[in-house]
Amino acid sequence: MSEFEAQVDDLSHDGRGVTRVDGKVYFVEGALPGELIRFQRTKRHRRHETGKLVEILEPSDDRVEPPCQYFGVCGGCAMQHLDSAAQVAYKQGVLLDSLRRIGKVDPTRVLEPLTGASIGYRRKARLGIRFVPKKGGVLVGFRERHKSYITSLDECLALDPNISCLLPALHQLVGALSCYDRVPQIEVARGDSQVALVFRHLEALTDQDHERLQTFACDHDVDIYLQSGGPDTVMPLRTGEARLLQYRLDEFDINIRFDPTDFVQVNADVNDAMVKRAVELLQPNVTDNILELFCGIGNFSLPFARRAGSVVAVEANEIQVERARGNAQLNNIDNTEFVVADLYSDQIESLKRFDHCNKLFLDPPRSGAIETVKELVPKLKPERIVYVSCNPATLARDSELLVNKENYRLDEVGIIDMFPHTTHVESIAVFNLK
Ligand SMILES: C[S@@+](CC[C@H](N)C(=O)[O-])C[C@H]1O[C@@H](n2cnc3c(N)ncnc32)[C@H](O)[C@@H]1O
Repeated sequence: MSEFEAQVDDLSHDGRGVTRVDGKVYFVEGALPGELIRFQRTKRHRRHETGKLVEILEPSDDRVEPPCQYFGVCGGCAMQHLDSAAQVAYKQGVLLDSLRRIGKVDPTRVLEPLTGASIGYRRKARLGIRFVPKKGGVLVGFRERHKSYITSLDECLALDPNISCLLPALHQLVGALSCYDRVPQIEVARGDSQVALVFRHLEALTDQDHERLQTFACDHDVDIYLQSGGPDTVMPLRTGEARLLQYRLDEFDINIRFDPTDFVQVNADVNDAMVKRAVELLQPNVTDNILELFCGIGNFSLPFARRAGSVVAVEANEIQVERARGNAQLNNIDNTEFVVADLYSDQIESLKRFDHCNKLFLDPPRSGAIETVKELVPKLKPERIVYVSCNPATLARDSELLVNKENYRLDEVGIIDMFPHTTHVESIAVFNLK
């Protein structure tokens, strides 16, 4: 196999070192910009090639010892070999580069990145489970990098320690169930004071299984739910014992209740800072009527409602909308209307009736909000748009339309390091009508 020595000049958007040999571009996993490396060619693609790192001849000053024993195998965190500050700089670079390259826009100002603790930050995750006799039985953990195998974990530094500490006992628990090879996943979620586990099972559980699960719930002080089919089959282990989880947004005196399968922002501390920043940037005041799209269970809606004249908050998932309404009641908020609508369909038309709204807030999934920008923005012409994005490419695409077609100025952008040690780039952008 061909082997090369080369200088790494860049980091790709998926965290691989980029180097060039004889005019060809190679992506080499584990290599960092500035390093002199030796690598083997592994695969040819039409426009680039991939390489396997053999030796680092001159390491980068930003290279650090990965804190996790599973680094390199587990697919959970790909950037632990890069210093935290350099990770943040890299993410900011990905954001600005996407805006420039895809969106052909440059912001007037770049905001200070929002960061938090780089370990123990995940309050929500899906643990994969496989029964592999050759590897000692039941494996609980995350997918291996680029593979469908499970990395069996006894701890996970990304997970909240109150969840991570359960891993060894979970291996044993699943291994002791009658359908130990028919439990593909456990969804874990932590509120401010309790942990919930949702066991997906493909076969009926026996009475003894129920007892084992109940004993585990008591011993570890966790709430257990069972899921025998789709999302609507989730139910508490003991009928009638459903307790919603809860987190608090102190700054706004808001409590948010959620079910373990609801969407919640995974990083509690960074979410606090992000909500605070969204409020600072949107600047809701009593004369403002806010339209918020992709509102989930009210994470931003309720803090906005504390300051705004009114909020209309829209979301496709009916269960989450019901939860958001419940959260408004819980916090004695009555200036917010929650609406169920699919924002990727022609249901968006029906939102044109909210033309009294003068500010718009968006927090879409990875596919972005092009329908909103095309259909709703020209009609509502909000004076300010604050856009939280989990995908720089779609933010850049939507920014191009807002700036180059809809007469907005991209005044501020900044990254939010919601998922430290991963290549995932979360960001926030502010557009003002010219
Ligand atoms: C990134 S989450 C943001 C949720 C919320 N803003 C929060 O901070 O918790 C995106 C939300 O968009 C919702 N969503 C996904 N597809 C949708 C669609 N087609 N129409 C409306 N909402 C959608 C999801 O259910 C989810 O709640």
